[in-house]
Amino acid sequence: MNNIVLIGFMGTGKTTIGKGLAHKLSYDFLDTDEEIERQEGISISNIFDKYGEEYFRLLEQKTVKQASSLKNTVISTGGGVVLNPQNINYLKSSGLLVCLEANIDTIYKNALKSDNRPLLCGHQDLKGRITAMLKNRKGLYDCADIKVNVDEKYIHDIIEEIIITIKERKIL
Ligand code: S3P
Repeated sequence: MNNIVLIGFMGTGKTTIGKGLAHKLSYDFLDTDEEIERQEGISISNIFDKYGEEYFRLLEQKTVKQASSLKNTVISTGGGVVLNPQNINYLKSSGLLVCLEANIDTIYKNALKSDNRPLLCGHQDLKGRITAMLKNRKGLYDCADIKVNVDEKYIHDIIEEIIITIKERKIL
């Protein structure tokens, strides 16, 4: 399949960049978290609150499987999608995996803007929490075909960088 799949830690801009990238390429767009919220009729935070993370991961796997059968679509994923090797298999078979990378300061700044990230919300030492989670997930994002750093960059420049890299490497 010819999809472009955005992976990366929370707060790296996967949804915003994914929407812009899809628009630029005239692709469809799907965000797995938005799709879970749409199908369940409840926010990600409320899913975690009411049913717990394990249940969320089941919904996430189901949605990733569905999304992987799409075509001509930019698929933005949740930061924890890489925790499940089955998800990586589905996504790899569906297209090109692009990982957005950011330093702790960028992630921290973006994390402050959202109250729909149950794994970060309410932590007094937010930077410490992000640092610990990044350490725990180290290496999991290495499954990506391409890595793009987003620190201190404009959204449209990041989108251009992704498109140029894809074209240069003739990988789609
Ligand atoms: C998660 C990231 C979130 C969302 C959920 C769990 C994670 O998505 O899927 O809160 O485990 O990293 P974003 O990366 O879009 O914030």
